[in-house]
Amino acid sequence: MAAINAINRLRYILHQLNSGQLPLEDLKRNIEYAALVLETAYMDETRRICDEDDDLAEVTPETVPDEVREWLAATFTRQNVATKREKPKFKSVANAIRTGIFFDKMFRKTQTVLAPIPPEIATLMKNVNSWSFDSFHLNEVSDGHALKYVGFELFNRYGFLERFKIPYQTLENYLLALEVGYSKHNNPYHNTIHAADVTQSSHFMLSQTGLANSLSDLELLAVLFGALIHDYEHTGHTNSFHIQSGSHFALLYNDRSVLENHHVSSCFRILKEDDKNIFERLTREEFRELRNMVIEIVLATDMSTHFVQIKTMKNMLSLPEGIDKNKALCLIVHACDISHPSKPWELHSRWTEGVLEEFFRQGDLEASMGLPYSPLCDRHTVHVAESQIGFIDFIVEPTMVVCGELLNKMVEPLVSLPPTDTLFPPSNGLDRTASSNALSPLPEGRNSSASPSSQIRRLPINYSGKLDIPNPWVRYLQDNKQTWKERAAKEEAERKAQEETENNVDN
Ligand SMILES: *[C@@H]1O[C@H](CO)[C@@H](O)[C@H](O)[C@H]1NC(C)=O
Ligand SMILES: *[C@@H]1O[C@H](CO)[C@@H](O)[C@H](O)[C@H]1NC(C)=O
Repeated sequence: MAAINAINRLRYILHQLNSGQLPLEDLKRNIEYAALVLETAYMDETRRICDEDDDLAEVTPETVPDEVREWLAATFTRQNVATKREKPKFKSVANAIRTGIFFDKMFRKTQTVLAPIPPEIATLMKNVNSWSFDSFHLNEVSDGHALKYVGFELFNRYGFLERFKIPYQTLENYLLALEVGYSKHNNPYHNTIHAADVTQSSHFMLSQTGLANSLSDLELLAVLFGALIHDYEHTGHTNSFHIQSGSHFALLYNDRSVLENHHVSSCFRILKEDDKNIFERLTREEFRELRNMVIEIVLATDMSTHFVQIKTMKNMLSLPEGIDKNKALCLIVHACDISHPSKPWELHSRWTEGVLEEFFRQGDLEASMGLPYSPLCDRHTVHVAESQIGFIDFIVEPTMVVCGELLNKMVEPLVSLPPTDTLFPPSNGLDRTASSNALSPLPEGRNSSASPSSQIRRLPINYSGKLDIPNPWVRYLQDNKQTWKERAAKEEAERKAQEETENNVDN
């Protein structure tokens, strides 16, 4: 618990830094405190790792050469499993914090690096923080470039071009390549608009709920990049279809998360093409960590992992310890991936049309191949309203409920921290006004001393000074379910009337 408090404390300091609310003296003492905590954590971690090594030592003779030991450890223990993080080295962490602050100051003086966005699109992007953002409209106005402009806008807002030294031309090349891949199969649902929509929804989850305060820049990048690529070159068929038909991808990926493996694998491959490596300037460690997170996030969009994810998260929520952050990020992107029933009806009904048409096309193909229809894929028998009610009741609503609880658990500790004064009594003559005011919501106007991503790391604190995490999905889910129920009743009545007419004709 000490560690989780320390982490929250550190995030809170970052939040204050980002909003330009922390006097220099406070900053110094806070960083000293953070370094102390990190050092303690590092020592604990080291002891734990030594214990793990001892397990291996028990079964391997000491005479075994180092390289062989490493091979044994890498192959037969979990210590080198990809998802495990690099152990933090105290000195490098403390340096990273200092350097980060130093660079941040330098960047404030230099010209901000931004990807160019035409005025008519910038106008639409004013709404990018809204759960009701209309990706269809953006796609029309931008001539089919919703994905590129959502990418531009969000990379600008999060300051990624500066932070990760991404030339905007490279970003543009990469995003255009994504658009080509998403358009390969002309899918009515799994296309560039869906990618833009899931990315924008993920941005809402990060920035409007306060969650971004608990995340590093690299984690923010992993979520948004993961969302951008998560359905790249989707074939418009289900994994089950790939497996049943023994497709190329099913054979390549041994029937395991067939499409998801393809999405993430091929998107990392694009980075190898000329002038498309947006991650070129990341350090080796940053890239490894990013890659691990992105792979985990995209593989977790495989719907067959849904119930396991929900169950695992419910378990974690019931424990006093902190949440596994990677699992939390996976669940959030998964939730956004299936979030269309929790959007305004105009959007939800359009997505429903698209996804059903995609299923029907698969059904047509199945029929032509002599395969049985997959569920919901026979265009002659599907009950649209009932299918959406079931989808909402059993999948989407429970997911959004868990997401809401998860957000509360992760964001609440950031607000309930004691003000800095109680932990670090003020020395005489220092101006304390900024830190004592730290919990009030940030002013609307952009302050020139705030870093580019300060708007992303706002806490949702309302006028009563209370944490008030928005959950617009609750209302839309109810409204949409109601609308579908009315339609279902109408469909049922029409079917009955039809049957009666047929009976009358028979008589
Ligand atoms: C931003 O903050 C600085 C320092 O606190 C202050 O001098 C400046 O007037 C503020 N700018 C705006 C636009 O509020
Ligand atoms: C602020 O948020 C709290 C907690 O959600 C809520 O009870 C309260 O009514 C909100 N106050 C205002 C003014 O919105």
